Amino acid sequence: MYINTPLPLLGGLTPAQFMKRHWQKKPLVIRQAIAGMRPLLDRAELFDLAALDEVESRLVVQAQPQSGKAWRMRHGPFARKALPPLKQSGWTLLVQGVDLHDARIRALRDQFRFVPDARLDDVMISYASDGGGVGPHFDSYDVFLLQVHGTRKWRIGRQKDLRLQPNMPLKILAHFEPELEFVLEPGDMLYLPPRYAHDGIAQGECMTYSIGFRSPSADELAQEILQRLAEDTQGDVPSLLYRDPDQTAQFQSAKIPAALAAFAKSALKQSLRDPYAVQRALGAYLSEPKATVVFEASEPMAGALQSVALDRCTRMLFDARHIFINGEAFEASGEDAKWMRILANKHTLSAVQVARLSPGALNLLQDWVDSGWVQSLG
Ligand code: SIN
Ligand code: CO
Repeated sequence: MYINTPLPLLGGLTPAQFMKRHWQKKPLVIRQAIAGMRPLLDRAELFDLAALDEVESRLVVQAQPQSGKAWRMRHGPFARKALPPLKQSGWTLLVQGVDLHDARIRALRDQFRFVPDARLDDVMISYASDGGGVGPHFDSYDVFLLQVHGTRKWRIGRQKDLRLQPNMPLKILAHFEPELEFVLEPGDMLYLPPRYAHDGIAQGECMTYSIGFRSPSADELAQEILQRLAEDTQGDVPSLLYRDPDQTAQFQSAKIPAALAAFAKSALKQSLRDPYAVQRALGAYLSEPKATVVFEASEPMAGALQSVALDRCTRMLFDARHIFINGEAFEASGEDAKWMRILANKHTLSAVQVARLSPGALNLLQDWVDSGWVQSLG
């Protein structure tokens, strides 16, 4: 990634400047971030995606679009005839993870790789009829909202009061206090940090792409890492058993012995003691593909591997000691680590680079090709 080149995508800022000034800090409205932007998928293609089982989609309908009341939300898949008529105002179709299904959207997503891959979630496309929107809300994500078709009026505010209206099928702020209002045209883009209140209302037929970046919570990370650490140790030598030869006869039978609580704490500390195990668990978690992703095993091919490319749905990351691919962790060092990192960063390896891998790493790469995680380009 060229991080010191001014980009129209960022309103003339370099990725380095954008990260320093705006990322997680303050919104940015970028006029003509992508000049001449037109929908990469047309309406019919988007509706076709929303009809698939493996694609996550939602339909939000407002019974009274003008008053912003009475929201209804349903989860897909949606047959075309299950969607409201195009002429009906006040509805929105949201289709998640389009980058996993469409090479053009994936290429768009790749323009944002100045943000670490580990933070990327997906590209969501929304289609809205006139007046459609999902109501004033906030997200836990950093998001780039790229207008691609029609116009949308945005109102945004940095309020602290994030209480939600009760009994709603979607998150709607109880007291929205917008501070800024503007209209985005095709090609314009709005960056919002997490928890920034916003409301986008379609003015006529409208399509918006949300390039979203997940912010894992401390609880989520702790839970995922601890679960993987527990799985990691299964099957090893039998673990230490709690022993209480000094236990005295109990007067209060139901009371948990203090020594047992201390044993539990030290067991937890013990499982966190190996920093590499924690790194392995973190990388494995972050590289886990989305639940809807299914890889298709490839037909066995004769001859040595030539050039390769990551499958569009593969997530590949690395740290100083490991490489991670689709939820699995491998130790890597020396030349092999160098080439595997290039594969993770560039998503491809040339035939010359593949030929430099050790026999062990080549076998691994072949396994990934067989599983459909990596495509052999011939
Ligand atoms: C939308 O595209 O309709 C809503 C996106 C958002 O507000 O997060
Ligand atoms: Co939002």
